[in-house]
Amino acid sequence: MCGIIGYCGPRAAGEVLLDGLKRLEYRGYDSAGICVGFDNALTVVKSTGKIAHLRGIVPAALPGTYGIGHTRWATHGVVNDVNAHPHTNQAGDIAIVHNGIIENFSVLKEKLISEGHVFRSQTDSEVIAHLLSDFYEGDLEAALKAVLHLLQGTYGIICVHAQEPNRLVGARNGSPLVLAVGQNEMFLASDVMATLAHTKQVVYLEDGEVVSITNDAYHISELRGDKPISKKVEIISWELENIEKQGHSHFMEKEIFEQPESILRAIQGRLDPENATAHLGGLNMSNTELRDIERVKIVAAGTSFHAGLVASYLMESVAQIPCTAELASELRYRNPIVERNSLYFAVSQSGETIDTLSAMRELKRKGARVLGICNVIGSSIAREAGAGVYIHSGPEIAVASTKAFTSQLAAFYLFTLLISRMHNMSFEAGRGFIQNLSSLPDLVRQGFEQQNHIRALAEKYSHYRDFLFLGRGLNYPVALEGALKLKEISYIHAEGYSAAEIKHGPIALINDETPSIFLVPGDSLREKVISNMKEVKARRGKVIALCVADDEEVKNTADDIITIPKAGEMMYPFLMVVPLQLFAYYTALKLGRDVDQPRNLAKSVTVE
Ligand code: M6R
Repeated sequence: MCGIIGYCGPRAAGEVLLDGLKRLEYRGYDSAGICVGFDNALTVVKSTGKIAHLRGIVPAALPGTYGIGHTRWATHGVVNDVNAHPHTNQAGDIAIVHNGIIENFSVLKEKLISEGHVFRSQTDSEVIAHLLSDFYEGDLEAALKAVLHLLQGTYGIICVHAQEPNRLVGARNGSPLVLAVGQNEMFLASDVMATLAHTKQVVYLEDGEVVSITNDAYHISELRGDKPISKKVEIISWELENIEKQGHSHFMEKEIFEQPESILRAIQGRLDPENATAHLGGLNMSNTELRDIERVKIVAAGTSFHAGLVASYLMESVAQIPCTAELASELRYRNPIVERNSLYFAVSQSGETIDTLSAMRELKRKGARVLGICNVIGSSIAREAGAGVYIHSGPEIAVASTKAFTSQLAAFYLFTLLISRMHNMSFEAGRGFIQNLSSLPDLVRQGFEQQNHIRALAEKYSHYRDFLFLGRGLNYPVALEGALKLKEISYIHAEGYSAAEIKHGPIALINDETPSIFLVPGDSLREKVISNMKEVKARRGKVIALCVADDEEVKNTADDIITIPKAGEMMYPFLMVVPLQLFAYYTALKLGRDVDQPRNLAKSVTVE
């Protein structure tokens, strides 16, 4: 949450910062601002609203070749111009941008006020600027280090001093910060997307590191002690076109339609038909270690949690290994028991979700072996896990996660195949599993033939205020995911349930004002789900059913259907979720919602 950027180089900093902030906007979009240094003075321009608005109020020829920028997801202090970053000290010669939460800010603020400091905003971050002015003795890096010792909480910070032109100092603790190394120019940013247009060379900073940049040099040192740290410069594989809309109206639309390719990227080179198994080199586990696993536990948040839930059903039924998925936010505070021979997965598209990261740390502290399933290479979870599976979805920019979900599933399906073949799965069954997995990109593409029909249905149903999403078995988590997609981008209330559970309460909601979306694949639970559907129909509930093309019984029972291609029983989560993503997308479009940046949300949830 919140995106920060800093630039030192030969170019007009205002433009570079605004472009970078545009790329970081998915992290928060309540307000935004920049601070540019020129002639030993700092100019701050900030405002409520999105980057497009900020661009409109930044003077066209703002002089200055270094500066900092911020796009905000509000935590402390309402959304207004004053609470927008950057924040300055009283003299206006120091400015900071901050992503994270300073937990002890009120104590620090009270003390500063008693010493005569006058605060302008209600944010926690402003204390940093005031403290810096107290500690500044001609060296911004030394001042920042002194200040950081007083702070409790999380931060990615970049600061600038008018008397130290073309120099920025940054630090991180619990919030991401990356150094990007260009040609005679340097950047600091919350993630690499902000700087990809300028350079592919990056250095990932760790918690407890402080970085100082000028146009052509950088210096990284420990917060505790002055020891310089030498770090590897890494090359990012993403291309600029990966972070453009490429003719689509929204990133969400682009990302939904990319799924045949992104699923293929997740499985490509990892299937071994000859031995009817999968290879996941990043796990760094020997066959003996894999064979010794007695249970698997998955922690994640939001959509990644739903992928983990599908995996828990899959792994138990296919690999016959006990597997549970748990919300990371719950696990981290309940003193989890780490059992021997358990394997843990922390699943996160961004690799920065604080709940998942903290749960992972808690588990590791207690001796657990935790693998990461991440999309963003070099992200905190990926690095701290040290081993795991990259899903290779490519950048996912829309706040609503789509292609990451199917690629996370693909990663879990590969792992299930691998571990099943070491436990109980026959060669023949392994071959079948591989065939089913390999057919997915084409089947998902085939499913897109329903695109116009789904759009028409979304428009037809867009005036309803409440929806139920109902599925069973592997498709129960998909129902949860369908409901999440609809509510987060269309703001329509939606609940996901196991179809069997509605009789235990939710059926009370059924009337002709509450449509239900039933997931009825041609699997072993089909008959049961059809019965649940009939129970809803008997109560005048409207039903949209997702089913295979020749399912006459479902066709005759539902008010509307969306057909999905026939597939192996275990593969339906992939084929069910895509129409639900499209349904949410077209509903939000019809209602005129801000599809890629829905209200109150941010892509990476880096605060608790
Ligand atoms: O980056 P992560 O996968 O860790 O993110 C987890 C959730 O914040 C995320 O899936 C969120 O629920 C999405 N907005 C769902 O579309």
